[in-house]
Amino acid sequence: MCGIVGYTGPREAYPIIIKGLKRLEYRGYDSTGVALQNGGLKVYKKKGKVADLEETLVGKNLHAHAGIGHTRWATHGEPSDLNAHPHRSSSGKLAMIHNGIIENYSQLKKELTNKGYQFSSETDTEVLLNFIEEIRNNNQCDLEEAVRIALKRVTGAYVILLLDEDKPETIIAARKGSPLVIGIGKGEHFLGSDASPMLEYTKEVVYVNDYELAIIKPDELILKNLGNEKITPYVQRLDLELAAIEKGGYEHFMLKEIFEQPQTIYDCLRGRLDATEGTITMSGIQQYAEQLVSANRIIMIACGTSWHAGLAAEYIFEELCRINVEVEYASEFRYRNPVINPGDVIIAISQSGETADTLVAIENAKSKGAIILGVVNVVGSSIARTSHGGAYTHAGPEIGVASTKAFTAQLAVLTMIALKIGYIKGTIPQQRYMHLLNELQEIPEKVAWVLKRSGHIKAVAEKYKDARDFLYLGRGYNFPVALEGALKLKEISYIHAEGYPAAEMKHGPIALVDEELPVVFVATKDSYHEKIVSNMQEIRARKGTVISVITEGDEVSTELSDDVMIVPEADEILAPMLSVVPLQLLAYYIGVAKGCDVDKPRNLAKSVTVE
Ligand code: AGP
Repeated sequence: MCGIVGYTGPREAYPIIIKGLKRLEYRGYDSTGVALQNGGLKVYKKKGKVADLEETLVGKNLHAHAGIGHTRWATHGEPSDLNAHPHRSSSGKLAMIHNGIIENYSQLKKELTNKGYQFSSETDTEVLLNFIEEIRNNNQCDLEEAVRIALKRVTGAYVILLLDEDKPETIIAARKGSPLVIGIGKGEHFLGSDASPMLEYTKEVVYVNDYELAIIKPDELILKNLGNEKITPYVQRLDLELAAIEKGGYEHFMLKEIFEQPQTIYDCLRGRLDATEGTITMSGIQQYAEQLVSANRIIMIACGTSWHAGLAAEYIFEELCRINVEVEYASEFRYRNPVINPGDVIIAISQSGETADTLVAIENAKSKGAIILGVVNVVGSSIARTSHGGAYTHAGPEIGVASTKAFTAQLAVLTMIALKIGYIKGTIPQQRYMHLLNELQEIPEKVAWVLKRSGHIKAVAEKYKDARDFLYLGRGYNFPVALEGALKLKEISYIHAEGYPAAEMKHGPIALVDEELPVVFVATKDSYHEKIVSNMQEIRARKGTVISVITEGDEVSTELSDDVMIVPEADEILAPMLSVVPLQLLAYYIGVAKGCDVDKPRNLAKSVTVE
């Protein structure tokens, strides 16, 4: 998810663009750049935040009436000056910015390389730009037609803004799968990933749809489809304020990110999981598949929510790959003198990729000869760069301090790794393998199903917001979810909450149970279900209040619960990606009901880069 801005009109373009980029930094902030029509095409870009770029431009002649700008969230190619956008075509005549992922870029790159093209970056964007230029040169057609032809060959998601040095007032834009808004001014036009860069200049906007292409001049906006047919732009009047736009209309980033999960899990699977072919493609894992297949032990190393994802992965890898898995708190692992044997594989799980404990833990392990694979969200982050290989979670920037969409994306990636390794090892029967691939593909839709019932969860939150303590109980694959639910509640509402294996209650904690103590059961239908129903009965018998996350249609658990939060049926291995969602919402709504700062909870930081 990157931020893009464009302007063409009578005003100075640079101030509009740089301010617009600052408004969009929540969408990505690892590198940034601008291209200006300033007596020829000028491109300025660098790794770092918008303010870092701005500093380097002080005193330069930035006079221009048209330009584009980009703040990057790296997907292809780590954050660097060269990988920053805008990119220039080989002729230097074109400059382009892009938000999205071109899935068939390596094929296009091969074709262009065979034609003698060279590339200065590792990005899919530069490939697409030169593909467009090649078509224009080859077909002797205009740029607009070349863009149309190129985009018909492209698979993936994109928003592109394109400048042509020979047409200094014109911006060509196109979108598929990523957002693009055009602001309509008097003799001027604005472009943005959302309306925040244009809001102070105009509230008249056009939301560009998939497969549409726009040719924009100061006093003219032409909208067409890829079939070159004109479309009448549908102009809307915006009534959102700036803050609301950055949060996509949600009250908090945390809620926005919870609701992004159908899309982020889909993005995580896209281009990797092919349930029809029965394949899982993850290049950063493929190159270490042999070590994973022959590993005597896999050690998951992480902190916090990421550690919970590692604990869920322990159950998944043991079941699917029959490999011994250990899950380690990075902060403990780094200070012990752990035994690392040749052939051990470490999977480091981290949203930020900068958690100090996890980073040092894997550096220590690496020095002892372990193979390190990273499951990380931030491309080019320290943990990603320290790892030998791995897979990115592609969940986009997670702004809320409480990790939500990163957790389900981590589960999706870890499940795909386990499926891939289990398939290679032959420890998963073919039928179950194909069943799981098909079920995994349906998870985004099932998460959306749960989110549709957020109103009910908000009501449950209202009912229990004044409780002093909570217990979260789960078994098997849902035990890590119970821990994660408890952590969400703690860090967002400051209510003490404890996650526990449900069967462990009888070894002490059940003494806590009374009518004041809400007990949340993560009790989706699985091979442990009968046992967890007995645990519910034990709590009921002691006048405890039971709130349950259950599978749709589970009458038995409904009978035993004071309140239920329902998720669709799913294979138990995949259930955590569903059963965690009601718990994320429960924590969020209780935190809001208690007037807590849910995006920036007290005492917490988004990334713990200190010991
Ligand atoms: C989770 O909601 C917390 N924000 C925290 O526990 C977090 O998961 C932990 O600090 C690990 O961060 P990482 O995933 O960026 O390494």
